[in-house]
Amino acid sequence: MPKLEQMPEPHIYQAYGLYLLRSQHRFVRRLQRAYKPCIHGYKTWESSFLLMDYLQAHPPGGSRRIMEVGCGWGAAGVFCAKAFDAKVTAVDADGNVFPFMELLATLNGVEVAPLRRRFEQLSTARLGEEEVLVGSDICFWQRMVKPLANLVSRAMRGGVQRVVFADPGRTTFYELAERCARRWDVELTEWYAADPRRAIGEVLEVRPRAG
Ligand SMILES: C[S@@+](CC[C@H](N)C(=O)[O-])C[C@H]1O[C@@H](n2cnc3c(N)ncnc32)[C@H](O)[C@@H]1O
Repeated sequence: MPKLEQMPEPHIYQAYGLYLLRSQHRFVRRLQRAYKPCIHGYKTWESSFLLMDYLQAHPPGGSRRIMEVGCGWGAAGVFCAKAFDAKVTAVDADGNVFPFMELLATLNGVEVAPLRRRFEQLSTARLGEEEVLVGSDICFWQRMVKPLANLVSRAMRGGVQRVVFADPGRTTFYELAERCARRWDVELTEWYAADPRRAIGEVLEVRPRAG
């Protein structure tokens, strides 16, 4: 368990070595007046803690280029930049999430590059610039399954070594795992995070097929 640290003001909390902000924090409230994320990217979702916990247990090793897709506030990307000293790009279809992501990055003393793109717009060549792709709580509608399965395929073809996605365990996520398993090596692991509170879900790890 980490050392208990008193936070300097209300609505800041710590998890996985990061400083994080609740929606009520004064800086968040100020940003909310100007930027209104509209595809659920309006807070740090619990699956991002599952992803951080899993990556802590299965670190990216020498991988220094990481892309977070469907980043929202980008906590997982900020974690990768801070914990693994990675060069992180945070991708989202909704440009209104980036000021919140940048606030978290600044609070944690790291830089994360924002990229406004839909899953469908990330080409094989662009994905191939990355070593690891991560994402949390990004497969919550049926219509997301196919674009995400295609995204994983382009990433694998482009040379990405690992794709790691976390989810609370929705049927759409299992369907994504099943689609990925048709072409790639897939591991689906039940996982939990204890920090900042207990959260349970699934982590999907996809790798190029061995041999
Ligand atoms: C539930 S939020 C999760 C945010 C963050 N990953 C987390 O766990 O806190 C889903 C995010 O996916 C983004 N998103 C949804 N559809 C997308 C698409 N087709 N391409 C890229 N991003 C998308 C949304 O804008 C939103 O920020």
